Amino acid sequence: MKTATFFDTISQSTPPALLEQMGQFLVGVEEELRVQTNSRVKTVEEISRLTLDGGGKRLRPALVHLAARATGREFDSSRTQKLGAAMEMIHMATLIHDDVIDDAALRRGRPTAFSVHGNTASILGGDFLLARAMSLLAQDGDLPIIRMVSEAVVELAEGEVRELELRGILNLSKDDHFQVLRMKTAGFIECCCRLGGMIAGATEAEVNALGEFGHQLGMAFQIADDILDYQGDPTKTGKPLATDFVEGCATLPLIELLPTLRPEQIAWLESLFSKEAHEEELRNLADLMNEHGSVARAQMEAENRIQIGRQSLCRLPESAERDLMCAVAEFVVQRES
Ligand code: FPP
Ligand code: MG
Repeated sequence: MKTATFFDTISQSTPPALLEQMGQFLVGVEEELRVQTNSRVKTVEEISRLTLDGGGKRLRPALVHLAARATGREFDSSRTQKLGAAMEMIHMATLIHDDVIDDAALRRGRPTAFSVHGNTASILGGDFLLARAMSLLAQDGDLPIIRMVSEAVVELAEGEVRELELRGILNLSKDDHFQVLRMKTAGFIECCCRLGGMIAGATEAEVNALGEFGHQLGMAFQIADDILDYQGDPTKTGKPLATDFVEGCATLPLIELLPTLRPEQIAWLESLFSKEAHEEELRNLADLMNEHGSVARAQMEAENRIQIGRQSLCRLPESAERDLMCAVAEFVVQRES
């Protein structure tokens, strides 16, 4: 039976056999995730399942598998499945923790673990998923992989704390902002792409090419996410409008807007930044970003990064898998949710 995934909708030119293979791979990942989210403690299982059933594109495991396939080498696909699931569980853990940090009631249009089970149980539920992921990595037993993933998790945690340090700074520099994006998002997506290459036994040059693609994809992904925060339709994104602004996180659309504003407009922003604001004010801000071209400039940054990422993939043999990775990258910067 055909197993449709989001890959079927993003690329018309992908051979049906590859789409079918990706569908089967992702079914296997889902089964693994279900097994790994079992717990003898009811609340732990509920928190894990709430996050699992919240859905998501399973982009990280898909990248692990696609990266391995894009090397053109033979590999053990049960490893991409298990380690891909481990990467998704780490991602799930970070989102559970992130929702506690942000007091977020909704994610993907559904109640967060934080809103259902509260702060303490959610933090511990996230810890459980992280530990289960590490256990999968230990069972696989590949030390260079364990070292790389552990380092990526260290960077993730540091990135989130760095973002906290920079909260409330309206005139944040692009350098500081990009450092946060690299640490909290791009580093981990880079790690997923490298992981696929390592599972397939790729050369260092091939793993680096996959890593460069993953880095650029991750940066573009987070920039697109930050644009959607202001420009997305909340019924599609599943999150309220301009939460980054309300939380005092300056992201690229805002950083690009600031130099174009008159002093009285900056004073207006200062009076609103990092506070609960009326939706109408937030809509005015989102419109201003459009009028002043700051959304377009942020979008251009994301698209340029995708182009650089595509170029680095040219260092791998031509294949349908390589093309599908590029289609994933295009989708990421065009998505509406
Ligand atoms: C979502 O980004 C959050 C992240 C990319 C990283 C979160 C990382 C942590 C909470 C720290 C590390 C945690 C563990 C378990 C190692 P966002 O807040 O920009 O996006 P959103 O709009 O989806 O919330
Ligand atoms: Mg968040």
